[in-house]
Amino acid sequence: MNTKRISDKMEKLLNTQMTREAYQAQVYLSYASWPGVNSFSGIATFLYGHMHEEREHMFKILKYINDRGGSAKIEAIDAAPANPKDIGDCLAKILKHEINNSKEIDKIVNLAHEEKDWATFNFGQYFVTEQIEEETLINGIIDKYNLTSTEIKGNTNLYEMDKDLTNASQ
Ligand code: FEO
Repeated sequence: MNTKRISDKMEKLLNTQMTREAYQAQVYLSYASWPGVNSFSGIATFLYGHMHEEREHMFKILKYINDRGGSAKIEAIDAAPANPKDIGDCLAKILKHEINNSKEIDKIVNLAHEEKDWATFNFGQYFVTEQIEEETLINGIIDKYNLTSTEIKGNTNLYEMDKDLTNASQ
């Protein structure tokens, strides 16, 4: 058993975040399945990829808690939200989830700073960077969506955008 090197408060916060990352994966899973059954396979592929990424985040936190002498607690994950109305709604909701998640990551970094827990502060930087990348990526896709859905009527542009997303970086 590792010597405990994180505070009880930090252990609790990290455990909450671990479950939240599992929830994020649940959100992506549900939002990926929806375009999958509505013939947007590129968007589905993109979102399934993110589902895996969120699971990796969950596992990274689990390992960190245990490596620092804490104890990861596997708890229930909330149900995924209802299906979005359309692709635009889907993307807007994903962005909202990511922004909320960034705020939760900030809480970990803030507490680490307050406690002078530099190991966790350093660990948290990975997630800060990750969230910047994810927000930027989703914002970019929303811009594309707005262009494709407003400049030319019809589904041709959406079809192109869907193909594009198959190869979008995760
Ligand atoms: Fe791991 Fe996008 O939150």
